[in-house]
Amino acid sequence: MLVIYWNEFGRYTLKNKLWAGRFKKGTHKVAEKFSASIDFDQRLYKEDIEGSIAHATMLANEGIILKKEADKIVKGLKQIEKEISAGKFPFREEFEDIHLNIEKRLIEKIGDVGGKIHTARSRNDQIALDMRLYLRKEIKEIIYLLNNISDHLVDLAEENIDAKIPLYTHVQRGQPILLSHQLLALFEMLKRDRARYLDCLKRVNVLPLGAGAGAGTTFPINRKLVAKLLNFPEVSTNSVDTVSDRDFIIEFISTSANLMMHLSRISEEFVLWSTKEFDFVDLGDEFTTGSSIMPQKRNPDMAELIRGKTGRVYGNQVAILTLMKGLPFSYNRDMQEDKEPMFDTVDTVKACLEVLSAMLNSIKFKSENMKEALNEGFITATDVADYLSRKGLPFRQSHEVTGKIVSYAEGKGLELMDLNISEFKKFSKLFEEDLYKYITLDGSINSRKSHGGTAKKNVLKMIKTARKEISAW
Ligand code: ARG
Repeated sequence: MLVIYWNEFGRYTLKNKLWAGRFKKGTHKVAEKFSASIDFDQRLYKEDIEGSIAHATMLANEGIILKKEADKIVKGLKQIEKEISAGKFPFREEFEDIHLNIEKRLIEKIGDVGGKIHTARSRNDQIALDMRLYLRKEIKEIIYLLNNISDHLVDLAEENIDAKIPLYTHVQRGQPILLSHQLLALFEMLKRDRARYLDCLKRVNVLPLGAGAGAGTTFPINRKLVAKLLNFPEVSTNSVDTVSDRDFIIEFISTSANLMMHLSRISEEFVLWSTKEFDFVDLGDEFTTGSSIMPQKRNPDMAELIRGKTGRVYGNQVAILTLMKGLPFSYNRDMQEDKEPMFDTVDTVKACLEVLSAMLNSIKFKSENMKEALNEGFITATDVADYLSRKGLPFRQSHEVTGKIVSYAEGKGLELMDLNISEFKKFSKLFEEDLYKYITLDGSINSRKSHGGTAKKNVLKMIKTARKEISAW
């Protein structure tokens, strides 16, 4: 029945609403616009169609609909997919979302039999399915991008194996380390993110379809078959939980927030290193921009933007956690608001990984400048103290003695290497000529042989291990 209703806002109608049965008045135009999600959930069209095809196939297999009906439905859905891909699909706000837009079009194309697709299904389990299908594909792409960057970091570590930098703590020069050691630190960070995505993927990869509106269905469906058709290793256990649950999106966004925090720190390091004050890297013309007023400038905008976009993902995390907090069981329309944070997170993370990956291709490390930063600042003072303690002096005293030596050298405008042995001996009789081999840059670095330390031997081993790990990914 077609009911047309008028008021001061204009005409609004129940025409074509797929759920109009019990309604006498149509949805208010303002309400229709307010509640429609088609603008953004049309991104899920492929997943929606894929899920419907599997559902129709199962319905026919179980004798719930006829095989020829399923064939018609599948054929219609495939045509619709082509229409959407070609940009020829008439998306309509009045049909709210991607599910109803496709279903309505299916009925238009193949007649009333199209309406059989929604047998034993609700939009509540349908939307959960679409998002799980979508997210599992995107997580795999993100992992692929992460793999590329990780691999690249190991290449850079290998290529720059002899470059040395100060280890900074409190942004103060601390001890000499290999640049490769720090590059491999980035590798470790991203490896943990990768593991988190893989873990999250396990919980995304569960079939929700078959939960219906939340209570299950009266039809003799075969959820295992749908899982097999859609390549889900698992079927959800509890129908109420299935339509209530958005943990899989929360986990994805939280994992992404952690990754973005890492990307932001990596970016910040490059921003700092590209300043004239540090001058440790050249990010390349392709990834820096000029200033519209100061002709000399080369700004690290890409790194800054990665740092900046981190905030968006944190925002998405807060949005989805807040959205879910306090929702009664099971499905609530609030949950439609889960999609934009999810899409935005996917887009942001992928864009940042892509630009970082490209940036790493053009980055040049200025090892001469790095070395210069090591030549002042008593960078091997810890090695002097360790030397004394190896000879039996309690470390607290070694620390104090070394502090005095540093102060003495500073007063004379000299570095530790410039002091002769008799000067050292004035502070402690334990000093011998062999001291010098521990307080050169190489001496300092290569004596840090403890597991995970910066000795070149260790770092070379880390590179080898990383390569082995990557080859198993
Ligand atoms: N567009 C809805 C969403 O994204 C689909 C599920 C709606 N279910 C319902 N019964 N209104 O959450």
